[in-house]
Amino acid sequence: MALNYTKKTLDNFLKPKNIGKINKPDGYAQIGNMVCGDQLDFFLKVEKGKIKDVKFLSFGCASNIATASVLTEKVKGMTVVAAKKYPWQKIVSELGGLPNQKVHCSVMAVNGLKKAIADYEKNEESKKKTPLKKTVARKTVAKKIIAKKKLIAKKPITKNPTAKKKTTAAPQKKK
Ligand code: FES
Repeated sequence: MALNYTKKTLDNFLKPKNIGKINKPDGYAQIGNMVCGDQLDFFLKVEKGKIKDVKFLSFGCASNIATASVLTEKVKGMTVVAAKKYPWQKIVSELGGLPNQKVHCSVMAVNGLKKAIADYEKNEESKKKTPLKKTVARKTVAKKIIAKKKLIAKKPITKNPTAKKKTTAAPQKKK
């Protein structure tokens, strides 16, 4: 039985937008549906909290491709905070509806995007922690150097122990 896809769904399936990979993405996620076996990979580039670029790869059905295509078009330029909240219902209405048995494809697309954003946020958190550790380490080293210099400055100048002592001959008694 042929599925009743809208023209827009077919257009996005036949000529999907944002297909491909992003090298060194700021966020990445893979998501799959165990029931249908379909899979999506999302790649994100984020600048100042906004999605600068987003791409996807699909091993899925026509609506898997079409929903990811529409979603990536819609969230490009959005803040990650807003993109995380993008509802699957909006994708369905953008496409002019989906057959009932294909609605889960749009849910999978938004969940995949959320997962990629979560990955981006995790990466940002670890970036924040790393410089802090370095700063603390640098401060500790600097303190040790200062303490050492103070210790050296306080030490009394000792005579060179290897220098020859002046020997003074004992005066001889006159006989
Ligand atoms: Fe499962 Fe489309 S049939 S994602």
